[in-house]
Amino acid sequence: SPEAIKQLKQEVGIAAARRVKSGMVVGLGTGSTTAFAIAELGARLAGGELKDIVGIPTSFQASVLGKKYGIPLRTLDDVDRIDIAIDGADEVDPAKTLIKGGGAAHTREKVIDSLAGLFIVVVDESKLVDKLGSTFAVPVEVLPMAIAPVTRAVEKLGGKPELRMGIKKDGPVITDQGNMVLDVTFDNIPDAAELEKTLNNIPGVLENGLFVGVADLILVGEFKDGNPIIR
Ligand code: A5P
Repeated sequence: SPEAIKQLKQEVGIAAARRVKSGMVVGLGTGSTTAFAIAELGARLAGGELKDIVGIPTSFQASVLGKKYGIPLRTLDDVDRIDIAIDGADEVDPAKTLIKGGGAAHTREKVIDSLAGLFIVVVDESKLVDKLGSTFAVPVEVLPMAIAPVTRAVEKLGGKPELRMGIKKDGPVITDQGNMVLDVTFDNIPDAAELEKTLNNIPGVLENGLFVGVADLILVGEFKDGNPIIR
């Protein structure tokens, strides 16, 4: 049920936040699971258990939540490292390859998550897949002026692109950087590393949601005998 999934997201978010230590630079991911981690970081700071951390937000949403929970925010210009990044995912396969960008934040997420000394992925068990791309399309951020040629180019690669549309807005979703998103369905992704490079090589593509070799640790929330556990 949605309530049970929410409980798993909260447990796993809290578990990730507990791995942060005083003095660390923390990448703040995007989405409903990471939101629980950001809240927990704020609670640990307020309680005095954690001191001198700074957050590097991966999105407008992460920045709003960071401020709300009292986490001092910085940009990549202000720091020389990221110790830990905590971020969600839309799909995770057995090789720890991810599909991200369900919240259209994957471009900044990839920059920050890739820089982290430890990138912790926080998911509930519904995100685990055997085959990447089986439940989720690959989000591709595209410069608006290039949307037509990029659409044709991904079709040529065998993908089925769909321009992501707003829910409470008429017209396309616009990313934090002012671009558009194509959600590209592939029947089969035999080589995610290759597809990641091929997509990014199309002129007008900023970044895609395939994260290959970036995740270090996957924390999975699941129910065992009716109780939430972290694996
Ligand atoms: C944002 O663009 C995505 O990469 C998110 O990290 C992803 O959608 C996870 O969101 P939830 O934790 O809400 O499922």
